[in-house]
Amino acid sequence: MIIAIDGHSACGKSTLAKDLAKELGITHIDSGAMYRAVTLYFRKRNIFPNDLEGIRKNLPGLEISIVPGETCTVMLNGDVVTESIRASDINDWVSDYAKIPEIRKKLVELQRSMAKRGSVVMDGRDIGSVVFPNATIKFFLTADIRTRTNRRLAELRAKGIPAAYEAVKANLIRRDQIDSNREDSPLIQCEDAIVIDNSKLDVADQQDVAL
Ligand code: DC
Repeated sequence: MIIAIDGHSACGKSTLAKDLAKELGITHIDSGAMYRAVTLYFRKRNIFPNDLEGIRKNLPGLEISIVPGETCTVMLNGDVVTESIRASDINDWVSDYAKIPEIRKKLVELQRSMAKRGSVVMDGRDIGSVVFPNATIKFFLTADIRTRTNRRLAELRAKGIPAAYEAVKANLIRRDQIDSNREDSPLIQCEDAIVIDNSKLDVADQQDVAL
């Protein structure tokens, strides 16, 4: 069984994915975390998204794995990066790296190979449209920008990361814009996806709706 969850930034995709995976006893894979790990890898090497030569040269040395569990542990070349990929520098850059077809190709292959090991719930932007077009069930999540900004602010502040409302909102809008308009696998709402607008739903309501 493959459950695909796509949608805009900060609309609770990972929360729903985690809850469904726990309820159904299957694996949750946060594909956004993989794009974040790629971003950290290139940022550490000072390779910018417009340096395609540098990206092509360094991609073979990139190793990402997700260790499923209560929360997805993200490994980048042997290091645990679960927390560091949530930093604001990564938020600022991730969509610019996620546009690059070579990067997407590598991650899509990895995502497909992960699902060969058993049933998964995978969340992201192109899971129902590109990675698993034949997924058992597809969800498309959305919420208004105010709700999403407040949720992301609360998440950052809970981690002790200082954040301002307007800056967080601007980052979400910019990422949505890039993610929805890129040439390679843009975020789209699949015709066969179940749409959930969770602006007015709490986590438990959302899980009830999905189940
Ligand atoms: O879900 P997230 O906010 O952690 O994802 C970070 C970025 O990664 C997002 O802005 C776009 C990109 N992404 C993508 O292009 N395709 C995916 N399947 C998942 C994420």
